[in-house]
Amino acid sequence: MSKTILVATEKPFAKAAIERMKEAVAKNPDFELKLLENYTDKQDLLDAVKDADGLIIRSDKVTREVLDAAKNLKVVARGGAGYDNIDLEAATEKGICVMNTPGQNSNAVSELAFGMMLNLVRHHYVGKPGTELRGKSIGIHAYGNAGKCVARLARGFGMDIYAYDPYVDKSIMEADDVTPVDSREELYSTCDFISLHIPGTKETVNSINYELLSKMKPGAALINTARKEVIDEDGLKKMFAERPDFCYGSDLTPDCKDEICATCGDRTFFTAKKMGAQTAEANINAGVAAVTQIIDFFKKGDETFRVNKKA
Ligand SMILES: NC(=O)c1ccc[n+]([C@@H]2O[C@H](COP(=O)([O-])OP(=O)(O)OC[C@H]3O[C@@H](n4cnc5c(N)ncnc54)[C@H](O)[C@@H]3O)[C@@H](O)[C@H]2O)c1
Repeated sequence: MSKTILVATEKPFAKAAIERMKEAVAKNPDFELKLLENYTDKQDLLDAVKDADGLIIRSDKVTREVLDAAKNLKVVARGGAGYDNIDLEAATEKGICVMNTPGQNSNAVSELAFGMMLNLVRHHYVGKPGTELRGKSIGIHAYGNAGKCVARLARGFGMDIYAYDPYVDKSIMEADDVTPVDSREELYSTCDFISLHIPGTKETVNSINYELLSKMKPGAALINTARKEVIDEDGLKKMFAERPDFCYGSDLTPDCKDEICATCGDRTFFTAKKMGAQTAEANINAGVAAVTQIIDFFKKGDETFRVNKKA
């Protein structure tokens, strides 16, 4: 019997992404794609999910109530990396597999990191001569999907690449021509640029503090495309106050942005809002990955990207 995949998005995927998702489903005659886009009333989601076998969402809330309403549901795929908008416990109780689509926006994020670095070293292109990235060193703080993409681009720029990630085998970094280091302190004191890619965890929140930042080389720049909460903002302010050479580029606006920019704006680059994953390609990649993963789940039992426990 044909399986229904519902795409339920308060904030829809781009048109091009939906077209590609439809194409992916069309190759599999046993599957049908249904769309619930721009819904504003939770009841619309509760109604639409009733006969869905698979569900694709973005930042939409998949609560216990939604899962209760979805009598046939076997799998939920989040188009994106995070999944704290889904009640994982309820999904596990109901035998529903929840997946994310990691890595689909990593290239977009890493290109943004380089965009920020270039802006900083060229002084925002306002007429003042700058410097180049070639021959400089970059320290990748966390060697996951985004960190690996940054390494790939850094090779193209002719940079010396270092990385710190206690959870990744050093041989993986070495295979990418990346020099692994043993501590954050070593990374921060070695490199001209630090590109942050750590997740927000108990261990990492507020962990980028003055003690660590003060180890950075003269003229070094910190680039944050990771999370707002990993930065200790008091430490960041102190760093700006004490180090007239320090630069900061961030996709995550700090609470103290205005304070910093009042005196040190020329040493910063802040995106207007979180823009890391905001490309047409990332949107298409995430949508197509979600569809493909759901089809593979039904056809092959593939649970590679499962994020919740099994019952
Ligand atoms: N700016 C944006 O729009 C945007 C988009 C996507 C992801 N992100 C953020 O970027 C970060 C990285 O994303 P990703 O896709 O590479 O994630 P990922 O899960 O692929 O990689 C995370 C890496 O962090 C490492 N890590 C975990 N704790 C660490 C610690 N204490 N010290 C060092 N390394 C540690 C893990 O081993 C892993 O390799 C996340 O915080 C994510 O939320 C931001």
